Amino acid sequence: AAGAAGLALGATGGVLVQSAVGDDPTAGGSGASGAPASLGAAQVAFHGDHQAGITTALQAKGHVLAFDLAPGAGRREAAALMRRWSDTARRLMAGETAPTADSGIALDAGPCALTVTFGFGHSFFDRTGLTARRPAALDPLPEFSADQIDPRRSNGDLWVQIGADDGLVAFHALRALQKDAGDAARVRWQMNGFNRSPGATAKPMTARNLMGQVDGTGNPKQTDPDFAKRIFVPDAGPGPAEHAWMAGGSYAVVRRIRMLLDDWDKQPLDKQEQVIGRRKADGAPLTGGTETTPLDLDRVGSDGKVVIPSNAHARISAPAQNGGAAMLRRPFSYHDGIGPDGAPDAGLLFICWQADPLRGFVPVQRKLDRGDALSEFIRHEASGLYAVPGGPQPGEYVGARLLE
Ligand code: HEM
Repeated sequence: AAGAAGLALGATGGVLVQSAVGDDPTAGGSGASGAPASLGAAQVAFHGDHQAGITTALQAKGHVLAFDLAPGAGRREAAALMRRWSDTARRLMAGETAPTADSGIALDAGPCALTVTFGFGHSFFDRTGLTARRPAALDPLPEFSADQIDPRRSNGDLWVQIGADDGLVAFHALRALQKDAGDAARVRWQMNGFNRSPGATAKPMTARNLMGQVDGTGNPKQTDPDFAKRIFVPDAGPGPAEHAWMAGGSYAVVRRIRMLLDDWDKQPLDKQEQVIGRRKADGAPLTGGTETTPLDLDRVGSDGKVVIPSNAHARISAPAQNGGAAMLRRPFSYHDGIGPDGAPDAGLLFICWQADPLRGFVPVQRKLDRGDALSEFIRHEASGLYAVPGGPQPGEYVGARLLE
């Protein structure tokens, strides 16, 4: 799944200096100019209605990690940690050094579109005595029949997503945040990802995944009238007052999805295209047109069969087939070397954003799990669901509306 997050503008946690990233919201960080001189200067706002790293264009490097609060740490320690983390994130995203004992790893670089995004897992609320304020949307995801989930690399009290267009800048942020955790929390799991680098393509275009597919085309666009409603929790919803702290927030579903690349790469091109229902070269539907032409799901070919196969991934996951369920897919690819069987441990750190997982990820994955054509080439190996609160206002730390 998919590339394409749009540019962050104004109320959606804005990009202050949008230089290395083009104006096509589906362009995974690959800018029109891609001028190396401006790449470092790209800066994303820390403050805003929404946290950065949701609608921000895909960055070239990413780290996602979860922490568990240490034994004995509760609400007070969690609040102090969120305060430290917010201060560090704000400074690093502005291209400044870390507040304490900066490691020097990013000294010569600009912010490189660094974003840091924080979320809370289901277990966080029990650990901090805040169970009554845990939204029902954080209820554990259902188990899917094809899941092969490793619990040690899943869930966790706190979740952090780091993205930047430079590997050293991203790692620098990772180290600083890990040091900030101090005695309050320890890393539960950590994963590293990447996307195309800004300037790698001659013109901005939707990113590709490790199967070679153009991935992100069907994402909701920030210009869609219902974009905010689908992706962000409304300000004053009908929900209970104890959940008001999530206003402007979003729910992140994180799945480590291994790609069985050796099997995939053996498939002939036409089979690969049938699996998705789109052409590999340009991402256009098999029913024709360009990448952005809508899928013609009813078109029947001369053989009497639907042109976009009934089990094609793009058909089964299409919002029209799922009661309008929509999510913003904003993944990183990963590669963790070659396994003992000689196969690459590689795939997609699938991250999708929605106002309500029961109206986004869950119904779509339920259908895909019944056997879309892609299923035999992938394996879900880890899973997490996190409540990502709204963006901080100046002077506020992320999560203050829950923890104060
Ligand atoms: C569409 C790949 C997993 C949901 C697509 C497309 C590709 C793709 C190539 C067509 C282009 C596009 O619209 O982005 C993959 C791969 C996956 C994966 C390689 C796993 C490694 C998932 C999962 C979900 C999902 C787990 C959600 C449960 C969607 C949605 C669309 C889509 C909603 C857009 C459909 C539309 O709007 O027409 N995916 N996908 N995908 N995928 Fe996936």
